[in-house]
Amino acid sequence: MAQKETEDLTRILISAALSRTVGIIAELCVADLVQAGQPQPVEHLARASKTHEPSLYRILRFMAGYGIFQETENRHFDHTPLSAALRTDATGSLRAGAQLFHQICAGWDGLDHTIQTGEPAFNKVFGAPIFDYIQAHPELGPLFDAGMTSLNSYETPTMLDAYDFSGIGVLADIGGGNGSLFSALLPRYPNMQGILFDLGHVVGRAKENLKTAGLAGRCRVIEGSFFESVPAGADAYLFRHIIHDWTDEQCIQILGNCRKVIPAHGKLLIADSVVLAGNAPSPAKDMDMVMLTFPGGQERTEAQFRSLLKASGFELKSITPTTTMISVVEGKPV
Ligand SMILES: C[S@@+](CC[C@H](N)C(=O)[O-])C[C@H]1O[C@@H](n2cnc3c(N)ncnc32)[C@H](O)[C@@H]1O
Repeated sequence: MAQKETEDLTRILISAALSRTVGIIAELCVADLVQAGQPQPVEHLARASKTHEPSLYRILRFMAGYGIFQETENRHFDHTPLSAALRTDATGSLRAGAQLFHQICAGWDGLDHTIQTGEPAFNKVFGAPIFDYIQAHPELGPLFDAGMTSLNSYETPTMLDAYDFSGIGVLADIGGGNGSLFSALLPRYPNMQGILFDLGHVVGRAKENLKTAGLAGRCRVIEGSFFESVPAGADAYLFRHIIHDWTDEQCIQILGNCRKVIPAHGKLLIADSVVLAGNAPSPAKDMDMVMLTFPGGQERTEAQFRSLLKASGFELKSITPTTTMISVVEGKPV
């Protein structure tokens, strides 16, 4: 093997540490200690974050090699665009997303189990499926919601720009989490009413957020499991980052429950990545690794969406891409 391949593969092997360091630095709020353009000595950063200075220095120097922070002079660190995105107050801050990865990153340790059995690594490492685990660990719930909002923050406006929701009287956001999507969507469509549906331990936060956004009167919040039923009464049913969490069999159950209540004129809207053919790297293929390891679902190709919808009583009508990794896959009941 040539030197380049050896070096490239070695770098890839060691880059596992990169993901861990981003999570730790996010957890410790180190990015909050630096204002862009005002480099801080590592001594100060270590004192303020209660960390071991020589180790913090080496971690920040390593991260700077990947464009996250930059060492200016004399062991001082300044922001780069990537490190600035880890500040808690950054627009669309990724801090909560990085913290969430940090909390559950041990899940990757079970990937050998996944490759042998097809079962999610998370279940083997944590002893329960991810959504059951979150339910049993209430302290993780708000972090999961905030992590989703942080990871998806740019998707909401681009989705609203790309897909025209007009003409929908009542929109149901199934697995709507903390209501961040409705908080952006409902103000754009003043005549639309919403139904947010999620698990019992999540809906309290959604109610609170929708109330704060002045939308409580326009959105019913209903608790339940989409494996049992989906609320009736909407013209369109939106599943954003839901279908990719589950296997085909589970999705057919979820979408089948939607099929039972959707009116003949209704729209099924699935907002997820659509995996394209070819070897180019893509966020969809990256996220597919997360789906394989954590919930046990998958990102799907157009052909896979087409057959999933068919098996659930729908027909694929259109796919609207956005400028982020998600597309809106629209189906109609048949
Ligand atoms: C990946 S998050 C997506 C949240 C939100 N739709 C978004 O785009 O940010 C998955 C959501 O599905 C919810 N969920 C998981 N299992 C569920 C179930 N059986 N019934 C209803 N909601 C469920 C979770 O609580 C969580 O809010």
